[in-house]
Amino acid sequence: MTSNNKKKVFSGVQPTGALHLGNYLGAIKNFVSLQTDYDSLYCIVDLHAITVWQNPKELKDNILEVASAYLACGIDPKNSTIFVQSSVPQHAELAWIFNCISRIGWLNRMTQFKEKAGKNKENVSSGLYTYPNLMAADILLYQADLVPVGDDQKQHLELTRDIAQKFNNDYSDFGGDNFFSIPEPLILSGSARIMSLRDGSKKMSKSDSSSMTRIELKDDNDLIVKKISKAKTDPLPMPGSLKELDSRPEVRNLLNIFSSLREETVSEIINEFNGKQFSDFKKNLSDLLISKLEPIRLELLKIEADKSYIRDVLSNGSYKAIEKSEKTIKEIKNIIGLG
Ligand code: TYM
Repeated sequence: MTSNNKKKVFSGVQPTGALHLGNYLGAIKNFVSLQTDYDSLYCIVDLHAITVWQNPKELKDNILEVASAYLACGIDPKNSTIFVQSSVPQHAELAWIFNCISRIGWLNRMTQFKEKAGKNKENVSSGLYTYPNLMAADILLYQADLVPVGDDQKQHLELTRDIAQKFNNDYSDFGGDNFFSIPEPLILSGSARIMSLRDGSKKMSKSDSSSMTRIELKDDNDLIVKKISKAKTDPLPMPGSLKELDSRPEVRNLLNIFSSLREETVSEIINEFNGKQFSDFKKNLSDLLISKLEPIRLELLKIEADKSYIRDVLSNGSYKAIEKSEKTIKEIKNIIGLG
């Protein structure tokens, strides 16, 4: 297949701090495996990041860090377009158009906004509220077919599909009929929601105040061993069946991590460790994590030191992304009757 008739993949990561195992297993690892069969675009979504105040100096560093992590994890700029969202103005332009298509009632249902805003709803930025419209713009600007994400983005993907459908309907008599193809989320069970190492009911997250809750891509081997040995479990022995995991969220999480890294089913891992000590399992999990993450960390540190290489990759990516998105935005404006 030539790159023109390949199906398209789009996804993005916010440059808001240290990337962790959840970002890797839930998203970036899948970006890597899709890039050969799909025309793939992987974005560093800095416009999403500023929906919450960011220190400008740290934001600049974090943008380069996500780019380095993409490259270190195996995204190849020869296969994929890697770029920064704000360097392609069409994202913000389409987001505005989608602000006018999307409904207040739809945004009011977004659970991530409710979680992030909490009790402070009157005082968060309006950007945080319309954030999913920008995300829809990211995806639909490239007419992406597939969007690999973790489970927490599922509702945003549903909103994206609703926006695409409403646009197609609203403008069906003006060339908009079936204009947007309806993107599909790719959410892999098992790795779609990696939980905190300290609380099996909470998602592993960049914003958790304790770094002991997460494995970061930059953690060295000793720190990985320490975090896994301190990871919460329970007083029961290693489980003998999947059913037992229903009431043991921390243990299920560690088994999910093991199974995603090894690319084997949780049942296979349960059988392997049934009757063994927890300490045995944790030792094997640390070894497995180190075998997968150490090469990524070393590569990340190397790439991060070569800022001019990263800037080259990003400016190439931005050039390619602008070329693709200019064409779509022109068609959209023409359909709507703008300019
Ligand atoms: P962000 O930056 O919060 O996370 C990046 C990706 O990592 C996934 N993820 C997880 N997966 C499994 N377990 C976890 N604990 C975990 N934590 C994070 C997220 O689901 C995501 O796939 N809104 C998006 C960024 C975005 C985007 C887009 C994604 C903007 N535009 C267009 C796809 C398409 C976000 O905040 O991801």
